Amino acid sequence: MTLSVDSESRLYSILRRVAGVGLFSWHPFLMTFSFSFFMTEALLIFSPDSSPIQHFSHKIKGRYHWILQTLATTCALLGLAAIFYNKHLNSKPHFATWHGLVGLLTVLFAVMQSLGGVSLLFPKLAKGWSLAKLKRYHAASGLVGYLLGCSSLLLGMSSLWFTTAVHSLRWYLAALCPILSTLVIMNQVTSSYMTKKRFQT
Ligand code: HEM
Repeated sequence: MTLSVDSESRLYSILRRVAGVGLFSWHPFLMTFSFSFFMTEALLIFSPDSSPIQHFSHKIKGRYHWILQTLATTCALLGLAAIFYNKHLNSKPHFATWHGLVGLLTVLFAVMQSLGGVSLLFPKLAKGWSLAKLKRYHAASGLVGYLLGCSSLLLGMSSLWFTTAVHSLRWYLAALCPILSTLVIMNQVTSSYMTKKRFQT
């Protein structure tokens, strides 16, 4: 489907009015919200030390987890649409930087991971796989997805646009946030999923 020049500029002016800022600004905002907030919280839900719903059953935590992950994936898709459309409007090449390429891989991975998560809600869909095995694979690939998200954020923070606005100590402080949260999540997932005997069934 192709949009006429008229309907394109109308869509752009509506987006600008809704945003109050340029379309581009939605990209870092939605991506940071997706990975640093929704996805981080979706994983911390299972933390034995800092879960916001520590005393709830594992089943309830699982429900909060998939709702937050769905929000994270939706924000990531909207963030990708914002930058893709903005580049299209400015006739700039797509996926031409490491950030663009790793970012695209990250969003595709997040979508696949979410689809994989459906098999945990309906284990009968994955015939021949035990629930324990599915959970372990989901946790391991989820960790890879989170690491990809952190890498995309750091590459985004290394872009000319960001380093022109934020530099010196403030840049290092900003970069510390995804790095620290990744270390926390890595420690949580490896200690509770990878090494436990309870998944050897
Ligand atoms: C996990 C989070 C992120 C993902 C998955 C992601 C993904 C992407 C993708 C796929 C593109 C290329 C789109 C195209 O070529 O059509 C892109 C471009 C861009 N992103 Fe991100 N992004 C993320 C976070 C950020 C952040 C936090 C910033 C700023 C601090 C940022 C700044 C930019 C800039 C300046 C561009 C245009 C230049 C380029 O293509 O490298 N991004 N992003």
